[in-house]
Amino acid sequence: MSVDSVISATAALAGPLTLIHDADKAPGWWRSAVIYQVYPRSFRDLNGDGIGDIAGITEGLPHLADLDVDAVWLSPFYRSPQRDAGYDVSDYCDVDPIFGTLGDFDIMMAEANRLGLRVIVDLVPNHCSDQHAAFQAALAAPAGSPERDMFIFRDGSGPEGHEPPNNWQSHFGGPAWTRVIGPDGQPDQWYLHLFDSSQPDFNWDNPAVHAEFERVLRFWLDRGVSGFRVDVAHALVKAPGLPAWGGRADGGSSDGFPGHEAPMFGQPAIHDIYRAWRLILDEYGPDRILCAEASVDLPRLAHWVRPDEMHQAFNFPYLHAGLDVYRLRSVITDSLTVLDAVGAPSTWVLSNHDVVRHASRFGYNGSGPRDGDGIGPADQQPDTELGRRRAAAASLFMLGLPGAAYLYQGEELGLPDGIDIPEGMRQDPTFARTGGERLGRDGCRVPLPWSAAEPHLGFGSGQQPWLPLPASFKELARDVQAATPSSHLNLYRRTLAARRELGLGRGSLAWAEEWCTGSSLGFVNGTTLVLMNLNHEPLEMPAGDVLLRSADPESGHFLASGETVWLQLVRGDTE
Ligand code: NOJ
Ligand code: CA
Repeated sequence: MSVDSVISATAALAGPLTLIHDADKAPGWWRSAVIYQVYPRSFRDLNGDGIGDIAGITEGLPHLADLDVDAVWLSPFYRSPQRDAGYDVSDYCDVDPIFGTLGDFDIMMAEANRLGLRVIVDLVPNHCSDQHAAFQAALAAPAGSPERDMFIFRDGSGPEGHEPPNNWQSHFGGPAWTRVIGPDGQPDQWYLHLFDSSQPDFNWDNPAVHAEFERVLRFWLDRGVSGFRVDVAHALVKAPGLPAWGGRADGGSSDGFPGHEAPMFGQPAIHDIYRAWRLILDEYGPDRILCAEASVDLPRLAHWVRPDEMHQAFNFPYLHAGLDVYRLRSVITDSLTVLDAVGAPSTWVLSNHDVVRHASRFGYNGSGPRDGDGIGPADQQPDTELGRRRAAAASLFMLGLPGAAYLYQGEELGLPDGIDIPEGMRQDPTFARTGGERLGRDGCRVPLPWSAAEPHLGFGSGQQPWLPLPASFKELARDVQAATPSSHLNLYRRTLAARRELGLGRGSLAWAEEWCTGSSLGFVNGTTLVLMNLNHEPLEMPAGDVLLRSADPESGHFLASGETVWLQLVRGDTE
């Protein structure tokens, strides 16, 4: 069958199509990759101290190869006092002893290479730990010194400088400034920290900061990593003069304060940094990548992935679209349109270590918890069964989209958030900085269940895990699910295998208008129709061979409420 006749046969079955995106023929493994986020402290604890470690990651890699992902992205494992779970780095070129050694890292890299998995590491360039040697040197040096110029120190405002230099707020609550005691023992300048007070922001107007991070990039590239996920990649450069800002601390828009005007995000000079980094990565060949964690709106996100900048950017608008079919359609259309215009692939993501897991978010009808706020025992509880069913539907829908996809460890098991976490065990700085008003992100960071019969469900055989695993994780353990054909895990396996076989990551996207209603959304990628039903009523499916469906196939030719199906519309190979 010719390509043209496949297209017309597809349209005949799917109804009118609106083409948004053509198949992707550009080179680059990342353009269609499935990248699995490992959160090291919660993945697997091999030495039994209750915290996941690099040896545990090495041990778990065969399971990820078996899942058929292309790459893993490791959240930070560098030396760190762990005030923000490793996003407070005190030495960028060493492994924290709680996670192991550089030798363990090299063993892990060798195992990843053996299994054909690429490894991406996290780079945290906006801020470091207050225990970093450079910040300690800045504290010991006087105002105006080169040591202080590595960071953003300013005199305070008001009488005797008692007030912060400006009104900026920290993401984690409270002011974004902390006053230091000078070398003479007197109250001194203030330093900026967009996050916790233990995370001073670097001064990216200083060339010495650029030189330091170029060294860090080369250190890990030389060790064989395939690239970097760049933490708060929109925040490095601040507007000259640090003008006041009354808007949201996370750069989102609020009444009278559009996010694109925030003086601490998306400043034009930021792009020069990434152009310089791109040149460094390109020295190592075409396979090393940069992925921006940049919370900016969609038209602007494309600026981070212009041909001479980063390769990918996280698509948070997609994550935030939830299960709203109108928002999903518009985010998908806008993403593919604006990213195609700069020749970049889109990425898709539903969960990570900063948001309530999608199996819990989707367990609410109406609005659930706010991002980063978590769910506690006193809050309205999600409907677990509904959440897991819709999570499967949402994942099957996402993995049918063309582009790259990011998975967060445990979503392949359909894990919900941990809710019964004793207050004394909560570690996210958000909890302490808001006096417990916002629970923070610990719930999505609960360790993984590997094996139902083992102590701590196989996460580790020694001390209590750093956060408790809920009792409900037992039936969700990886070994239980591996042995259950209809499990969430086996749905992910079948989905990733089919996605690869059908080449969907490289595919096209056309909206199947007949199936885009107020409560369902359908698109055609190549010859596959992906259809998600969010109506309360079952939906009669179009003709075609069922390749995969996210719920038990008992509803026959009807798509249940909260279910996604992949249908093959046309059989036969194209010439
Ligand atoms: C984004 C990271 O994903 C989050 O976990 C961290 O707290 C902040 N950046 C600060 O580094
Ligand atoms: Ca350990």
